[in-house]
Amino acid sequence: MERKDTVVSKVETESDQGQLHNHTGIKRAAQLLNRGEVVAFPTETVYGLGGNALSDEAISQIFEAKGRPSDNPLIVHIARQDQVLEYVKEIPKNAQHLMDVFWPGPLTIVFKHSGKLSPKVTAGLSTVAIRIPDHPIALALIMESDLPLAAPSANTSGRPSPTEASHVFEDLNGRIPMILDGGKTGVGVESTVIDCTDPNGKVTILRPGGITKEALEEVVGEVFVDPALVNRDEIPISPGMKYTHYAPAAPLIMINGGIPFFKKKVEEASRSGKRVGILVTEEAKGLISPVAQEVVCGTREDLTTVANQLYHSLRKFDEGNVDIIFSEIFPETDLGAAIMNRLRKAAGGEILSEITAGK
Ligand code: TXA
Ligand code: MG
Repeated sequence: MERKDTVVSKVETESDQGQLHNHTGIKRAAQLLNRGEVVAFPTETVYGLGGNALSDEAISQIFEAKGRPSDNPLIVHIARQDQVLEYVKEIPKNAQHLMDVFWPGPLTIVFKHSGKLSPKVTAGLSTVAIRIPDHPIALALIMESDLPLAAPSANTSGRPSPTEASHVFEDLNGRIPMILDGGKTGVGVESTVIDCTDPNGKVTILRPGGITKEALEEVVGEVFVDPALVNRDEIPISPGMKYTHYAPAAPLIMINGGIPFFKKKVEEASRSGKRVGILVTEEAKGLISPVAQEVVCGTREDLTTVANQLYHSLRKFDEGNVDIIFSEIFPETDLGAAIMNRLRKAAGGEILSEITAGK
């Protein structure tokens, strides 16, 4: 089949504000979506690969372009709260509270679905994941197309999610007709996915993300965490969480220890002939080893900077041709929970600890 280069259309949100629906790129993208094609667009978390959530054919194209396993359901993006009722059986009370506080924003809520969406979106499950993204281009595109948009992250399955249009181009050029380029995304890790289908109103985090457990608890009281997020032997409720994900090409190992321990691990690997990459924060910059390729990812004083740069940093290692990557670890609270979840997925769960290493 002929491979045509993907069109990249730049959208300036600053100067075009208020007129985005008239932007030629957004109009063109909305037309493509209405013809059953797929388009990549920015959200406040990562770039998404959108398609008409009512069309089996459009959804098949998303799975095909990404090489995504078909048992992994997609998030449906809408622009207004009143659209939810069309696609779900009911809105539980806790879900409504959370929608009022966090939408538009990086919170995805799993409801029982009404059967109106393509069954390919929900991978045959009885539930559907929905969110309103907090990004002017995403919202303009949803409104201009007048469609619910199913959109997974716009990366090839298994690669780090794209936080810039160039990352999408790298992964999907020639496989999709168009990318709307809105610059770098803000949050940098994907939305928090929560399940609100429990009959007793229990809210459970299926994937940690931009909205923290602590922030959710301020609104609805105690929030639970899918045990599979902490215990590798459990089967996750969210099908996507079972895959090794977000992975750069080289294996990533997390280092739980001080700088001398980190140094020792890097030097051991280097002596055995491996090209080593290290993922460190500003605080450890230049302190680990001159033989390693160092990528600096934000500051520990403000974890939003780490989340924001994480995927871009992981992609940098692929350009540098390293054989192994060692990374710092982060506290499991607040945004640290999402960062650690993504590192664990990239690492396949491997952590080297100073305490147990000597035993
Ligand atoms: O920030 C985000 O959420 C981005 C942007 C584009 O919105 N999207 C994104 O989509 O990360 P994706 O497909 O890469 O991740 C969707 C996650 C997967 O882990 C999937 O298994 C889960 O949501 N999910 C979707 N529908 C579900 C359902 N009905 N029940 C449980 N988990 C579901
Ligand atoms: Mg993804």
